[in-house]
Amino acid sequence: MQINQVMVIGAGQMGAGIAQVFAQAGLRVKLNDLNAEVLQNGLEGIKKRLAKAVDKEKMTEQEKQQVLGNLEATTELRAASDCDLIIEAVVEKMEVKTKVFQSLDAIAPAHAILASNTSSLPITEIAAVTNRPSQVIGMHFMNPVPVMKLVEIIRALQTTDETYEVIKQMTEKLNKTPVEVNDFPGFVSNRILMPMINEAIYTVYEGVSSVEDVDTVMKLGMNHPMGPLTLADFIGLDTCLSIMEVLHDGFGDSKYRPCPLLRQYVKAGWLGRKSGRGFYSYE
Ligand code: CAA
Ligand code: NAD
Repeated sequence: MQINQVMVIGAGQMGAGIAQVFAQAGLRVKLNDLNAEVLQNGLEGIKKRLAKAVDKEKMTEQEKQQVLGNLEATTELRAASDCDLIIEAVVEKMEVKTKVFQSLDAIAPAHAILASNTSSLPITEIAAVTNRPSQVIGMHFMNPVPVMKLVEIIRALQTTDETYEVIKQMTEKLNKTPVEVNDFPGFVSNRILMPMINEAIYTVYEGVSSVEDVDTVMKLGMNHPMGPLTLADFIGLDTCLSIMEVLHDGFGDSKYRPCPLLRQYVKAGWLGRKSGRGFYSYE
């Protein structure tokens, strides 16, 4: 199957990055968000990153213009009607994602593959709300998308080998490394990463150490590029909480209980970098 026209739903930090890497690989991409301001910010972010690449002589001005020429912004979901591959990157809430997939299923051409960038939610359940479950798959990019090499490819129970192969080859075309994963809560990446972040929050909550010191221990002691609390702010605390809830509900094991401090921060609207405040301040 030939993929020419791609659409990305949700232009937040992940959606904008995903659109950028597809456009850089020479595909035409429509970037969609409900919120026109977010959509504009997403495009501005892409332009800034490409301009920086030109400054660093990693890309020519002409290549930058070509990439930008591959991108189109739209607030209309109907624009999915001529797309071959659609990747959903909206908020980590099952009820929002299933509505988006039902709408896309009605709009997109019969041959189109519908992928989700979900961090943890069951792809099998998302696939089941569509009339094309064999063409639904998880395509889990890592943040920041233009930099990180990994894409977890999650097969729903219903996903066919053909759909998997198309997405695997597409991932390689993006110059990223695919890893095949079965559909279990948190997949591999967040089943391992998120309990570590949650435990880091517990160490602060229980007064074992300060935010800065916990991060220093993991940065200098374990050579992590970012401390876990800096990383939590970077991912988004709402997303971290949603993932912990999926692990907790999905496995029914108390070892995944979200730290009360994480819940409290999310209730306060302290979502990390994207809201200006989380474990650190970004004002
Ligand atoms: N978006 C795009 N590019 C970015 C970026 C961003 N937000 N932040 C940094 N970069 C780019 C820079 O432009 C730079 O690119 P060039 O080398 O081409 O110039 C490169 O990354 C390195 O940047 P810096 O030198 O400024 O900073 P750094 O060396 O400290 O690296 C980092 C920054 C790559 C983000 C690094 O801190 C890191 O790897 N952090 C951990 C990231 C991580 O763990 N991601 C996974 C999160 S979990 C996830 O994604 C799954 C989930 O479902 C929650
Ligand atoms: P974000 O909050 O930055 O962006 C989500 C965007 O979705 C918002 O701009 C919102 O306006 C938009 N949106 C909500 N409902 C919509 C709809 N019905 N139609 C179109 N747009 C809609 O979130 P994010 O960090 O980009 O995360 C998006 C998805 O990617 C989540 O499923 C998350 O779990 C996953 N993910 C996040 C990370 C991360 O580090 N943040 C990493 C990998 C995967």
